[in-house]
Amino acid sequence: PDAAPAERVSPEESSPSAARKAPPAQPHAPPRPALGRAPAFRHPPPPRHRALVLTGFGGYEKLKVQLRRCSSPGPGEVSVRVHACGLNFADLLARQGLYDLPSPPVCPGMECAGVVRALGEGVRDRQVGDKVMILAKSGLWQEVVNVPARQTFLMPPGMSFEEAAALPVNYITAYMVLFDFGNLRPNQSVLIHMAAGGVGTAAIQLCKTVENVTIFGTASASKHDALRSSGVTHPIDYRTTDYAEEVRKISPKGVDIVLDPLGGSDTSKAFNLLKPMGKVIIYGVANVLTGQKKSLIAMAKTWWNQFSINALQLLHHNKAVCGYDLGAMDEEFELLGSVISKLDNLYRQGKIKPKIDSVWPFDRVADAMRQMQEKKNVGKVILVPEAPKEESKKEEN
Ligand SMILES: NC(=O)c1ccc[n+]([C@@H]2O[C@H](COP(=O)([O-])OP(=O)(O)OC[C@H]3O[C@@H](n4cnc5c(N)ncnc54)[C@H](OP(=O)(O)O)[C@@H]3O)[C@@H](O)[C@H]2O)c1
Repeated sequence: PDAAPAERVSPEESSPSAARKAPPAQPHAPPRPALGRAPAFRHPPPPRHRALVLTGFGGYEKLKVQLRRCSSPGPGEVSVRVHACGLNFADLLARQGLYDLPSPPVCPGMECAGVVRALGEGVRDRQVGDKVMILAKSGLWQEVVNVPARQTFLMPPGMSFEEAAALPVNYITAYMVLFDFGNLRPNQSVLIHMAAGGVGTAAIQLCKTVENVTIFGTASASKHDALRSSGVTHPIDYRTTDYAEEVRKISPKGVDIVLDPLGGSDTSKAFNLLKPMGKVIIYGVANVLTGQKKSLIAMAKTWWNQFSINALQLLHHNKAVCGYDLGAMDEEFELLGSVISKLDNLYRQGKIKPKIDSVWPFDRVADAMRQMQEKKNVGKVILVPEAPKEESKKEEN
């Protein structure tokens, strides 16, 4: 379910004059003194918090910071003071109207981390003060969120809020595509596209938990040193070379697993690169994103070139084609909880650690999105509700 959005403050409620408005007359109110002014009666201003709101589909300017009124958590919910939120590729698609998100105005955000500040009725397994990470379909880019307690996961000790906001979407996805669908085993080979990004970095770290895995990783050339030092055996610049040819030069038989977040013609290339008993896991359509606004040409091209195979052809190929969508698993709390607990263990053992590319205050969400869309990020892009201290100081001077 969607994170329960906090109630929006109407312009009237948020205006100073509205706050000073006299309350309606009470049926049994004492008579007002005949002379002089009535005693001032003021409601305490409703607590408000900042939220990022997508005001329409389109370019970066469609995201605005707005004030919303805090509400109490409902039964089964917790209220969380958010310290960091994750930006995902899907948020770029959602901004253009290419992802399953309620119609604008809507608060996006599928993951965040913070501290529990209040408990709704019936919540037993969370306490005020717990540090948690949260996963939801949308609604988490806010300073305060009310969410069902079952969508929160306790942060392991020592984990920062930025790391916790970087973990749920990228690491659950990477874990499930590599191990549940991919069945990665020692001495196998994997091709990871978008290898320097959020899911890519998580997938590399998870591959390193298995003995002697050969990792092919595609990314822009400027990121290849970072890829090598994180454990990619063969970084490939997909922008200047044909990555399938490059893989074949090194491994003529192809690879055991291809992680495909690109879609379109890249899925056919992935299928053709598989060794017998190989698997391609499709989990994205990054190829539809070509500019700030929705491109019908890119959409048509991706759709036209999409991979298709019938059961009989598949039977003779000895290959598997899998599709994965975390967003469609929002009711699978036990399944996702079990993956998070495995990730929690790996984090405690020092085997995984989210790599943070950059941290941006809500007001600079456009720059955060640009960082990802212009292919500059190495690791995860994070949003924080408050301006970082150095930023505030700079603004003060
Ligand atoms: N199905 C699911 O449940 C699920 C869950 C999470 C993510 N995903 C998918 O996994 C992929 C990675 O997601 P992420 O959030 O981790 O993002 P990300 O990899 O951090 O995305 C940014 C990077 O992608 C690369 N890229 C490739 N094609 C691009 C394009 N058309 N426009 C902009 N950048 C492009 C760029 O790096 P280089 O040029 O260096 O490669 C860029 O720096 C996406 O396709 C996303 O939709 C799917």
